[in-house]
Amino acid sequence: MAVQTENKRVVLGITGSIAAYKAPEIARLLTGRGYEVRVVMTEAAQEFVTPLTMQTVTGNPVMTSFWDDSPEEIGHIAWADWADTVVVAPASADFIAKANAGFADSPLLALILATKAPVLVAPAMNVNMLQHTTTQDNMAGLKERGVRFVEPEEGELACGWQGAGRMAAPWEIFYHTMRIISEGDFVGKKILIGTGPTREPIDPVRFLSNRSSGKMGVALAREAFRRGADVTVVHGPVRVRVPRAIQTVGVTTAQEMHEAMLSLAYPEEGQGPDVVIMTAAVSDYKPKVPAETKLKKSEAMTSIEVVPNPDILSDLGSRRSESNSPCLVGFAVETGELEDLLTEAAGKLERKNADMIVGNFAEEAFELDTNRVWLVDKHGRRDEVATSFKSRVAQKILSRVLKL
Ligand code: CTP
Repeated sequence: MAVQTENKRVVLGITGSIAAYKAPEIARLLTGRGYEVRVVMTEAAQEFVTPLTMQTVTGNPVMTSFWDDSPEEIGHIAWADWADTVVVAPASADFIAKANAGFADSPLLALILATKAPVLVAPAMNVNMLQHTTTQDNMAGLKERGVRFVEPEEGELACGWQGAGRMAAPWEIFYHTMRIISEGDFVGKKILIGTGPTREPIDPVRFLSNRSSGKMGVALAREAFRRGADVTVVHGPVRVRVPRAIQTVGVTTAQEMHEAMLSLAYPEEGQGPDVVIMTAAVSDYKPKVPAETKLKKSEAMTSIEVVPNPDILSDLGSRRSESNSPCLVGFAVETGELEDLLTEAAGKLERKNADMIVGNFAEEAFELDTNRVWLVDKHGRRDEVATSFKSRVAQKILSRVLKL
């Protein structure tokens, strides 16, 4: 199965910070996506990571000086024009100050002034340097002029201090880079996704649940983020690895997921989402009265009395306005024949007042990184998406959402 690749050109600028040791990993993630990467390093950056390392990872020459240019080409200007985006990671306080003031005394600073491409900056520095008014003013100045930031993380810093200032993880910088140069067809759109299983307590140590891993919802969240959406994920008890710019709300029971989804889909104040997608495998039933203490073998329990949970997708559907807003997408998981799957999907489309149901088979979906799905929409279309990575399936689902 082919991994997704794209032909895009990234200039990666590296400045003097211990976080420079993460730069080869950023370059590796970008080249893995098929991007061509050229690296520009300041003098201080070369104290932490060598140009040879960056050259080996990217397969391209590394710019370290103004004075290596050939007579035909002025390197920093040519690279400024060549780039689809310029990413500076790590960006030191010194770099941020000089970039804000318009200095051009290093190839990287000159390139930043010369480029018309969007610029992304990932700061890394001591917490006090970051919080200093001068640094904050410099960052605000750059933001005002359209430079985007991947905010640093909180945590233990190399200098021994605790606090904000640690450069964002390479994986996160990679996602922000993809977002900047994506097709951007979800820019300005809000999307809410429900994913994962729910757990219904039987007693303090046992629960009713299912095999859902939440991976399909995570793939949709990442893909929507990549294409520019403002994303919120409500998830059952599974690990959800998404960029920090995606809001995540963890829940356990179907009732909690119901409350979270309904309040986020129809907020009392402010704008609700444009699109809501329910990939969650919600427990249809819950034990009527969960035991307060652990049930003992000696109590010889042979059955559990259950009561129905609310149907979240149905309740989302029945609260929609006449204009059918927000756009509502559900899933249908089955175990039988394709014909039954399509019939079930069409039935759920009606019953739950959704715009599209994504049908899939349990054995091809649960816990796997791949899936095969059918898109059954309100216009009567029924299209198969052949087995592919869930990231690819997510791409197809979101492209269809735009046509609903
Ligand atoms: N769903 C929901 N709340 C529930 C049950 C399901 O919101 N209590 C949503 C799922 O997230 C999915 C869709 O409804 O988007 C269909 O879920 P599925 O489990 O396939 O179907 P059910 O509605 O539970 O019906 P059945 O189990 O009879 O197939």
